[in-house]
Amino acid sequence: MGQGIAHISALAGFNTRLYDKDKSTLEAAMAAVEQTLSKGVELGKITNADRVRTLERLTPAMTVEHGVEDAGLVIEAIPEDINLKKDLFRQVADSVPEETVLASNTSSLSITEIASGIPSPDRVVGMHFFNPPHIIKLLEVIRGEKSASEIVDRVCEIGRQMDREVVLISDSPGFASSRLGVVLGLEAIRMLEQGVASAADIDAAMVHGYRHPIGPLRLTDLVGLDVRLAIAQYLHEKLGSSQFEPPKLLQEMVRDGLLGKKSGKGFYCWKE
Ligand SMILES: NC(=O)c1ccc[n+]([C@@H]2O[C@H](COP(=O)([O-])OP(=O)(O)OC[C@H]3O[C@@H](n4cnc5c(N)ncnc54)[C@H](O)[C@@H]3O)[C@@H](O)[C@H]2O)c1
Repeated sequence: MGQGIAHISALAGFNTRLYDKDKSTLEAAMAAVEQTLSKGVELGKITNADRVRTLERLTPAMTVEHGVEDAGLVIEAIPEDINLKKDLFRQVADSVPEETVLASNTSSLSITEIASGIPSPDRVVGMHFFNPPHIIKLLEVIRGEKSASEIVDRVCEIGRQMDREVVLISDSPGFASSRLGVVLGLEAIRMLEQGVASAADIDAAMVHGYRHPIGPLRLTDLVGLDVRLAIAQYLHEKLGSSQFEPPKLLQEMVRDGLLGKKSGKGFYCWKE
């Protein structure tokens, strides 16, 4: 997600630095942005001048401190784990002035809690982008309990400058999109587990019957089964409803390293 958010940010005209603690992931992410932009030119979605300018605006950073220095806005997209996010927010807050706006791309976690360990939690908001960001235009902006109205307004405006369809949501587990989307995805996994139909037929039912652009199991493969499991566990804990209880099959697949597209196999085979 970090790679995709950096891509659309630089494309929209913002000078953007991308950081990942894993150097090879960072290199792969920079190469992937270049590849996606070239494909965009080939398909006539962007001009070659857009591609060149976007690459000029996007630079890799080798440390968190270098990544965030002078930034007006920092967008975090590390794994869906509240403690990891809180630690990183503390580290970032130590490296930037109090005016720097801090956003999390969390799919479900509490923005209020992420903001709780740093000075000036009023400058923290959620910016929930969708996968892949250069194609899916929705941006959920999440207002934490302490988020300042002018910061929320500014972030909505930045989202629109990034060509997003912005929706504003109060801080509540899973916001709007994950809370609804995860129910569908988990139920599809339960149906597969119970032998109701094949993955392809469950997906086809939603694509052709309900005009979803993609079926819930294929979407789970794209999101990452580990990411979906983390969200389901969190929503189950916070909202208590059995509809969020992670199905056994999902837990077993994550345990076996079947994470979807990123690992080459999930409900579908993604090898070349
Ligand atoms: N996958 C999706 O479709 C999707 C969509 C919307 C939002 N999200 C959210 O975005 C976030 C990231 O999800 P993802 O699927 O991109 O995860 P991912 O596991 O693919 O990528 C996370 C990256 O963070 C890096 N990382 C870990 N700790 C770090 C640290 N302390 N500093 C810097 N980098 C660090 C890892 O090396 C990894 O490359 C999660 O909060 C997730 O819920 C995911």
